[in-house]
Amino acid sequence: MKVELVPGVYWVGAIDWTLRDFHGYLTEAGSTYNAYLIVDDKIALVDTVKKGFLPEMLARIAEIVAPEKIDYIICNHVEMDHSGELTEMVHRVNPEKIFCSPRGKADLTRHFKEDWPFEEVRTGSELSLGRYHLVFLETPMLHWPDSMMTYLKEEQLLFSSDAFGAHYASGERFADQLPDCPEGYLYQLKKYYANILMPMGSLITQLFKKIEELGWTFKMIAPDHGLIYRNPEWPLSAYQKWAAGVPEAKGLVIYDTMWHSTEMLARALLEGLMDAGVETRLFHLRSTHYSDIVTEVLEAGLLLLGSPTLNNGIFPSMGQFLTYLKGLRPKNKAAMAFGSFGWSGQAVSLINKELEDMRLRVVHEGFAVKYIPDPEELARARALGTRLAQEHLRG
Ligand SMILES: Cc1cc2nc3c(=O)[nH]c(=O)nc-3n(C[C@H](O)[C@H](O)[C@H](O)COP(=O)(O)O)c2cc1C
Repeated sequence: MKVELVPGVYWVGAIDWTLRDFHGYLTEAGSTYNAYLIVDDKIALVDTVKKGFLPEMLARIAEIVAPEKIDYIICNHVEMDHSGELTEMVHRVNPEKIFCSPRGKADLTRHFKEDWPFEEVRTGSELSLGRYHLVFLETPMLHWPDSMMTYLKEEQLLFSSDAFGAHYASGERFADQLPDCPEGYLYQLKKYYANILMPMGSLITQLFKKIEELGWTFKMIAPDHGLIYRNPEWPLSAYQKWAAGVPEAKGLVIYDTMWHSTEMLARALLEGLMDAGVETRLFHLRSTHYSDIVTEVLEAGLLLLGSPTLNNGIFPSMGQFLTYLKGLRPKNKAAMAFGSFGWSGQAVSLINKELEDMRLRVVHEGFAVKYIPDPEELARARALGTRLAQEHLRG
C-alpha cells in the first residue's frame, strides 16, 4: 500500500512490531523506522532504516520507483536505527550525493568507513529537486551532534528526524487516523520526549525561536519514529510545554524494598499526598520500567525516592534509576529521600547526594526509619507527604 503524504512524497519506512527493548527503553508498542521518498525531477530518499529492515524499505520504494533511480540520500541523523542499512543502500542505489550536516559526514565516515559522495549542508542550505525545494536546519545535540531537519518548503512539511517521534508500531501512518488521537498517542510522544529529549529542554526552546526566525510554518511533521502529524499544532505545543519544564501539581513516590518497611513508608507518604488532593502515582522500581517512571517524572513537581540500606549502600534498582534520571537532567522539581535501615543507614544520605548532584531542590533532610516503621512513624510520614505537597506543589 502506497502512503502518500503530499503529491510525490511517500512514506517508505519499516514497522518493527515486535521490538520491546530499544537501547534499554521499554518499547511496549514496538516502533517504526520512517523513511520518506520524494519523487521529483530528482528523486530523494530522506533517511533510511535500522539493520534488518532493508527488504521492507526496498519493497515499499519499489512500489513507487525502482530503487536504483534514487539520486540523493538525505541523512538527517547518523544513529544506527536510521543508518544501519545505509551501506547496503548506497551499494544498491549508487546515489549521486548524500546530504548531511558537516558533523554528519564526520560521524557517518566514522561509523561506516566509506568514502561516499557526501555533500555537507548547513542551516539555510537549499536543495532543488525540481518543483520541490528542501531547506536544511542543523539541530546539534537534538539529540546527537550531527542531527538536522529537512523542510519541504512548498508543502510546509518538516522531516523532523527524531524530534516529535514516538516508538509506536501501527497499521496507521497518520496520528489523526487513530480513533483516540491525540489522547491515545500522547503517552508515547511524552515517553519518547522524557527518555530521549528531556536533557535538551533549553535547546528545544531555542529551536522554536530559530523556526520563528526562519519563518517556517508546518502543515505536516514527519518524524523518524511513529506516526506523521497532519495537524501538528498539538505535538508542537506539547514540546513547547515540556521544554519550558513548568512542573504540575503532581507528586511521585518511587521506591524499592526487600522486607516491605520502605514500602510501608512509601504508602504512608502516598496517602499524605492524596490527603493534600494532588495528583500522585506510586512506582515500585522492579514493577514499572524506569523508562515509564521517567515519563511520569517529566511533568511532576515532587519526587519522593525510597530505598532500604543494603550493604552500606542504595538498593541496586534505585542506584540504576538515579543514574538514568541524572543523565536526563530533570528540572524544577522538589525531592526527598526516605527508607528503612538496620544499623548503618546510608541509603537516604546517598540518595540525597544524587539529588543534589542533579540540582533538584532537596526540601527535607530525608525520612529514615530503623527496621519496621511503627504507627507513630507512619503517621509522621503521612503528615510529611501532605506538608510537602502543600508547600511544594501548590502556589
Ligand atoms: C543483605 C542485607 C544487607 C543489609 N545491609 C545493611 C547495611 O549495610 N546497613 C544497614 O543499615 N542495614 C542493612 N540491612 C538491613 C535493612 O536495611 C533493613 O532490614 C531494612 O529494614 C530493610 O528495609 P526494607 O524492608 O524496605 O527492605 C541489610 C539487609 C539485608 C537483607
